[in-house]
Amino acid sequence: MKGIVACVFVCFVLTSVSCCENGNVTLQPAQRQLCEFKIKHPKPIGVLTTTAGRPVELRETVTVNSELISNEFLLDTMMHFDQERVPERVAHAKGTAAFGYFEVTHDISEYTKADVFNGIGRKTPLLVRFSTGIQSLGGPDVSREQKGLAIKFYTKDGNFDLLCLQTPVYFYTDPLYFNSLIHALKRNPNTNLFDETSKWDFIIQRPKVLHTHLWTQSDYGIATSYRNMDFFPIHTYELSNKKGNRYYVRFNFRTEQGLRNLSDVGIAEPSRDTDYYNRDLYNAIGNKSYPSWRLELDVMNSDEIRHLDYNPFDVSRQWKTGTYHTVQVGRLVLNKNPGNMFKVSELSAFNPGSLVPGIPGPVDFLFKSRRLFYRDTQNYRLRVNHNNIDVNQPLYAKTYTRDGLPPVNDNMRDAPNYYPNSFNGPEPVVDESQPWKRLIIFESNAVDLEPHSHFYNHVLTDDGQRQRLADVLAESLAAVTQPVQRKALKLLALVDKDLGKRVKAGLKKT
Ligand SMILES: *[C@@H]1O[C@H](CO)[C@@H](O)[C@H](O)[C@H]1NC(C)=O
Ligand SMILES: *[C@@H]1O[C@H](CO)[C@@H](O)[C@H](O)[C@H]1NC(C)=O
Ligand SMILES: *[C@@H]1O[C@H](CO)[C@@H](O)[C@H](O)[C@H]1NC(C)=O
Repeated sequence: MKGIVACVFVCFVLTSVSCCENGNVTLQPAQRQLCEFKIKHPKPIGVLTTTAGRPVELRETVTVNSELISNEFLLDTMMHFDQERVPERVAHAKGTAAFGYFEVTHDISEYTKADVFNGIGRKTPLLVRFSTGIQSLGGPDVSREQKGLAIKFYTKDGNFDLLCLQTPVYFYTDPLYFNSLIHALKRNPNTNLFDETSKWDFIIQRPKVLHTHLWTQSDYGIATSYRNMDFFPIHTYELSNKKGNRYYVRFNFRTEQGLRNLSDVGIAEPSRDTDYYNRDLYNAIGNKSYPSWRLELDVMNSDEIRHLDYNPFDVSRQWKTGTYHTVQVGRLVLNKNPGNMFKVSELSAFNPGSLVPGIPGPVDFLFKSRRLFYRDTQNYRLRVNHNNIDVNQPLYAKTYTRDGLPPVNDNMRDAPNYYPNSFNGPEPVVDESQPWKRLIIFESNAVDLEPHSHFYNHVLTDDGQRQRLADVLAESLAAVTQPVQRKALKLLALVDKDLGKRVKAGLKKT
């Protein structure tokens, strides 16, 4: 008996070893996934059924020379296959997700009463979705464009969604730019190819967007991995504390793996692996090198925010040094792969309007429009009950909304479905500390190239960085029609003479 136990044990260890190694190479977590499933389930996990639950008979699994219409297994399988996609996101289509937590390390109760940021040591579970910006599903991870990190904190006061970008600035402030910018950056409708001319044509028409474009075309646009990027929710958020005092902040997630980019190795080799960033993240979490980010806040009080020589709500520019102070908040750690990527990444629905008490949120026009249009896009992709999908469900919810396309979950069972009522349906809370005033702001449409020039001269810190940026711009301008190219060169020279000169010189070489 002992012998049998020993053999079972040894054989088990042997299979697991041979399964996870290939010659003398240890396979990465992503390469071991199927074999690890088998180790966990030494026998088939159960009887195969149709989606209606009937056991499938072996003869139904071969269909040639059979009467197809009576083969329920065939119909069930193929008619489901025909519909197994949900509409692709227009922007940030390609992504990957992970679970983790946020841990508070510093007391910031002075600025916000938000539960998620209060009490040193408090841990809040969260979901993140990293994504490329412009690429469609299946596109390469390594390409110079805007990466995203959407975070959903499952707090006791509901979901708090922070939608971050890899640059601390965003292309524009007028919501109407969105449709045209994304169209100009994505494939040309006629050729179905990326089109440098449409991209540059939009930039010369709307020079504000050039600032963020410079960020993404520089070293900052080709990080070594998602783990080596900083992330920023770009807007200026209003926070409020227990007394109802208001503060204005910008959130910054700083990578604890260090900022690193591919400029030393070039992008040719890494971009041969379409899923370079996704693979890296999965393997890092799979081998327990859990990636993490420090959250810090740049803060101004409601007095400071009124006395500036620039618009602090303008997402297309950074706050000027010396006008704010920075405080530490905590750490975001990712420690779990999703288990099923469709269920978690494709079916995740983020909405910047999902805020929590203590974070009244941004007041700028772009944010107000995002409150509308994110909800609209999720309703289109995942239907009206998208917050009932597992990964989007808050820890607690009781509503008067009902019915609609599934999932409806328990649909609030037999509770009253109208408000107000006399029969003990859910009741609102009273929050005396909620600020009753909101800041009203006005934004200018004037073109200001100062942020662009600041980026070139001060964010980029050495000649190597500036030359690499100029080379990338020159390469892209080489494929652009003459009139647009001339105007683009003029614009670059207006940003900075040296930049204009380097790009022109680079163009001559191409
Ligand atoms: C094991 O690794 C060595 C050194 O890298 C290599 O030369 C050898 O071919 C490998 N053996 C097998 C069986 O893959
Ligand atoms: C990108 O990486 C290179 C090589 O490590 C480094 O010299 C350069 O400063 C980095 N760029 C930025 C913007 O950090
Ligand atoms: C874990 O994976 C990451 C990403 O692929 C890699 O950089 C790191 O070296 C790996 N660590 C170990 C212990 O294998």
